Amino acid sequence: MQIIAHRGASGSYPENTLLAIQQALLAKADGIEIDVFCVENELVVIHDENVSRTTNGKGLLQDFTLQQLQQLDAGAGQQVPTLWQALQLVNNQTLLNIELKGADTAEPLFKLLKKAETELGTEPDKLLISSFNHHLLKQIKKQRPDLKIGALTASLHLDYAAFASELGAWSVHCDRGFINQELVQDAHQRGLKVLVYTVNDATTAKKLQLLGVDGIFCNYPLEARSW
Ligand code: G3P
Ligand code: MG
Repeated sequence: MQIIAHRGASGSYPENTLLAIQQALLAKADGIEIDVFCVENELVVIHDENVSRTTNGKGLLQDFTLQQLQQLDAGAGQQVPTLWQALQLVNNQTLLNIELKGADTAEPLFKLLKKAETELGTEPDKLLISSFNHHLLKQIKKQRPDLKIGALTASLHLDYAAFASELGAWSVHCDRGFINQELVQDAHQRGLKVLVYTVNDATTAKKLQLLGVDGIFCNYPLEARSW
């Protein structure tokens, strides 16, 4: 079962920062998940629409300029990183799962990846683009069929993983609260990987392993190895 560092090694370091990403690399995580929004045409790594939970600032992300955002402390003196910085740091060492949060992230992503492939040598195969916004995923797959996409869901659908197949996804990313054998079986029959969020204890991790899931998103990638 693969261990994907959720928001980097966010259980021990400030989430979605370069420090948390670096620590996930040191923990030899099989993948690293980060969340991105668009601010002034730049993709930035942050989970919420509001900066107050994860930084020393207050207010909506959309009211910040990129420069103002980068002046905030995202914990342990870290800045809110750009996706470019995250790509540079990960440097194809592990799978980078970019979760698109903002609805306006597809076009900036295409532009950024084109540049990153040329200038940083980013390998598309080392990327997994996911979102709860399936319209965005459809757009990504249409323009960049070579990219792996992960269909996120917080529901157990009547037809299980059919929605992910329709999107041409590589994986289905499910909430741990409702995952069951039928979903895992259906997804596997469709050739989809099953990744489960967010799993931060050994008991749940072992239960999921028995269900046959392919991976978990975990805030503690280093500790999860021993589970
Ligand atoms: O991508 C898995 C997980 O990160 C989805 O939920 O809210 O933690 O981004 P959230
Ligand atoms: Mg996420």
